[in-house]
Amino acid sequence: MLILGIESSCDETGIALYDTHQGLLAHALHSQVKMHAEYGGVVPELASRDHIRRALPLTQVVLDEAGLALQDIDGIAYTQGPGLSGALLVGSSVAEALAFALNIPAIGVHHLEGHLLAPLLENPAPAFPFVALLVSGGHTQLMRVDNIGAYQLLGDTLDDAAGEAFDKTAKLLGLGYPGGPAVSTLAAQGNSGRFKLPRPMLNSKDLNFSFSGLKTAVLTLSKNNEIDIQTKADIAFEFQEAVTEVLTAKCMTALRDTGLDNLVVSGGVGANQRLRERLSQAAKRRLCHVHFPRLEFCTDNGAMIAFAGAMRMQHAVEGGHSFTVRPRWDLAELQAPR
Ligand code: KG4
Ligand code: ZN
Repeated sequence: MLILGIESSCDETGIALYDTHQGLLAHALHSQVKMHAEYGGVVPELASRDHIRRALPLTQVVLDEAGLALQDIDGIAYTQGPGLSGALLVGSSVAEALAFALNIPAIGVHHLEGHLLAPLLENPAPAFPFVALLVSGGHTQLMRVDNIGAYQLLGDTLDDAAGEAFDKTAKLLGLGYPGGPAVSTLAAQGNSGRFKLPRPMLNSKDLNFSFSGLKTAVLTLSKNNEIDIQTKADIAFEFQEAVTEVLTAKCMTALRDTGLDNLVVSGGVGANQRLRERLSQAAKRRLCHVHFPRLEFCTDNGAMIAFAGAMRMQHAVEGGHSFTVRPRWDLAELQAPR
C-alpha cells in the first residue's frame, strides 16, 4: 500500500511517500524558517499562504524521486492537528481534494503520534513496548508505548515545554528564531562552572517537568551581567546542561519504574546533540537501548505522517471527504486501530 503523507501543522511543509512493503520511498521538506525569522517567530497567516504554495510542487518532487505517478497512490495521510488551524486546513484540504479526485481514502493523523512513531522509520526499529520521550516546541511528555494507539502518559510538563524554554532563552539572549539550534550552537563555545542554574523538579518523586523557572533564571543572569558574546555562550551552556540533565534523569526513572529497556526519543529537541550524548551514556549504564530518529525526522516532516497514516490506513473508514482540523487535540484521546 502506497501512502502519501502531508504535514503542514506549523512552519514546515513536509511531503513523503511510504510503502508498507518497501518502506520510505521519498520525502521532501520546505522550511519557512527564513520567512518567519524577521518576525522573531511563526506568523500563522504567512505560514498558511506558504503551505499553499508548496504542497503540490513538493508532492510532484516526491513522486518524481520515487518514479511514481499520482495514480499509484493508495491512500493519503495528513496532519489533522494539533497545530495552527489555517496551516492545518491547507494540508487537509489538499489531501482530501486529491483523495476525492483519485477515489482513494484519506486519513487525518495526530501530529504527535507522527513524532512518537518517527523512530520506527529507522533500522533497526525499536520493538514495542518502549518508553518514549516526546520533546518538541509544544510538548515534553514521557509515555509508555505498548502499540500503535496504546499510549500511557507517565509524565508531562507543568508549564513550558523544553523546546519552548530553548526558544524563550534564545530570545532573551538575542539569538532569534528558531531558538533550539541557536542556543546549542552558542553553548558549544560556553564554559562550564561560571553560572549555575537550577535543575527544576530533578528530585521530585514523579515524572513531571517544569521549565518556566529556568527562563526566569536566565533573564536574571542576563540582566545582572555584562552581556557580551562569551557571557551569552556561558549562559547558553549552563541552560543546556540544566535542561538535558533533567530530561535524562527523568527518562532513566521512567525506564526503571516501567521495567522496560528501550527508550525512544522524538520531537525537535531530540535533535540536540548534548541530549543525545547524555541519554546514550545514561542508557548504556542501565544496559538499555536508546533510539533516535535521524536528525531531519526529529523536527517536523512528512515521513512521520505518511508512516503513522500507513499504520492506521488499513483501518480507515471511507468517508465523504468532509473533514475538520483539530488545532487542539490531546494524544490521550487516540485509540488503537480496530
Ligand atoms: O518537533 P518540532 O519541529 O515542532 C513541534 O512540533 O513543536 O520542534 C521544534 C522545537 C523548537 O522549540 C526548537 O527550538 C527545538 O524543537 N529544537 C531544538 C533543536 N532543534 C530544534 N532544541 C534544542 N536543540 C536543538 N538542536
Ligand atoms: Zn512537531
